[in-house]
Amino acid sequence: MRRGRFITFEGTDGSGKTTQFRILGNWLRDRGLEVVETVEPGGTAIGQQIRRILLDPANADIQPRAELLLYFASRAQNVDQVIRPALDSGRVVLCDRFTDSTLVYQGAGRGIDASVVMDLDRIACRGLKPDLTFLIDIDLETSLARARRRNERIGTSESRLDEESAAFHERVREGYLALAKSEPERFVVIDGRGGIGEVGALIREAMQVHV
Ligand code: TMP
Repeated sequence: MRRGRFITFEGTDGSGKTTQFRILGNWLRDRGLEVVETVEPGGTAIGQQIRRILLDPANADIQPRAELLLYFASRAQNVDQVIRPALDSGRVVLCDRFTDSTLVYQGAGRGIDASVVMDLDRIACRGLKPDLTFLIDIDLETSLARARRRNERIGTSESRLDEESAAFHERVREGYLALAKSEPERFVVIDGRGGIGEVGALIREAMQVHV
């Protein structure tokens, strides 16, 4: 009964994906499509509360499995409350991060087995997979500098993961590139080094081909 399209944005912190996600949402709306924008973790009132726990630098002692389950708790709520209903009514759903983030941050980054992540995905998402995923790829140096600038601008209340080591972020980036390679029909890898307009144009070009 699903009629809508489910499009996700992925990338390392500071890759510029959230900016591009908003630009694409507006562009699709200008073209007359009904678009729902959501975010992981977050996206619902309950998800927002979970997001605060996950990203608060005061929670540095959160255990990897507790962290993993909280990401999926937020996602289960978002899938049932926002994403599936929107898709069933024919809307385009844009989601800023989804299970690929868990595969690379908790999987490649923290060493949790991908099969464990996918077991939880089956419970939380009940078979829902993105139709198309934009991976905004950028080198580590540029993305960390951007993430730092963002923290200076909006404060450090969401900086827990930015404080991970460079090696962690490198594993995340490599994890993303490996995922994209394993599912080339779903992933579109976008070079995120250009200016906002340039990267936006690459995304719109890919949209014309893939949707
Ligand atoms: P954001 O700032 O792009 O909204 O992402 C929040 C942080 O949460 C970011 O550092 C990536 C991290 N994250 C995970 O570690 N696992 C996940 O499953 C998701 C969705 C995000």
